[in-house]
Amino acid sequence: MSFPTHRPRRLRTSAPVRRLMRETHLVPSQLVLPAFVREGIDAPQPISSMPGQQQHTLDSLRRAAAEAAEAGVGGIMLFGVPSVRDAIGSGADDPTGILNVATSAVIEEVGDAIVVQTDLCLDEFTDHGHCGVLTAGGAVDNDATLDRYAAMAIAQAEAGSHLLGLSGMMDGQTAVVRQALDGAGFSDTIILAYSAKYAGAFYGPFREAVDSQLTGDRRTYQMDAANAREGVREALLDVEEGADIVMVKPGLPYLDVLADVRAAVDVPVWAYQVSGEYSMIEAAAEKGWIDRRATMTDSLLAFRRAGADAILTYAATEAAGWLREDI
Ligand code: PBG
Repeated sequence: MSFPTHRPRRLRTSAPVRRLMRETHLVPSQLVLPAFVREGIDAPQPISSMPGQQQHTLDSLRRAAAEAAEAGVGGIMLFGVPSVRDAIGSGADDPTGILNVATSAVIEEVGDAIVVQTDLCLDEFTDHGHCGVLTAGGAVDNDATLDRYAAMAIAQAEAGSHLLGLSGMMDGQTAVVRQALDGAGFSDTIILAYSAKYAGAFYGPFREAVDSQLTGDRRTYQMDAANAREGVREALLDVEEGADIVMVKPGLPYLDVLADVRAAVDVPVWAYQVSGEYSMIEAAAEKGWIDRRATMTDSLLAFRRAGADAILTYAATEAAGWLREDI
């Protein structure tokens, strides 16, 4: 009788062997917690389509940031939900706007313990819900929007944001924001470009989280799910325009794009496990169909395997706790 020459199972025989053979590792500092803060409420509001997540008050946001820092999470990404909206999203670059106020509050709370980051996009602040300003005909006006992003960038940097997440998908936004920041003396403010950001239904629960005013869709600026090469092209353009970090979003459905982008650029590459991905795990776990912790851990590891240096996930604080337990 002949024996198998190759026995890959040999490296799976026990937990210590498997641990030593792991190709990929996930640590709390590679996780970033996205968090919502809403203007004008006195108690946090649960987001029904995102179990465990809420629209924070300034106070509860401070506590969430402190907990994340305590758990060893690498950063917190802030999203503002204003109580008043208008056509140009005036609240976005108003120093007393909710996102800018919240940024200063979080920095006051956690100091430099974690990286405090802000979403740079107009959709939460416009009364039509689009990521930019509109032409008279109702189309999203790319170049007029760039001026708004430049103003928003300076307001966020003045509020103390360490890192700006450019999620609007306007052409040329990275270059315009970099110029504006440098011109205002913020040459150390980091730019994360949401380079390959795809349109589609995975952002569904997020729309509830920010009380989105959008009717229609974002298909004239966010990318078509059918395109992988175009995702790499967008990432290369952002690097050329001065992005410090590029991101692929959503995450799990686009791991191929993530791996392609990783191979094409030499800056850090991040992934965003978006609201729909998070809520699918929560919903299936609630039904008892999957194990929540194991599924979440497998998903986060998949991002690392595909090449992500860090991951935005609504489960960041909790997952950081699991990872510490595992050590
Ligand atoms: C734009 C923005 C969105 C998300 C992050 N930044 C909404 C959108 O593009 O429609 C979605 C994140 C998620 O679904 O978790 N401000």
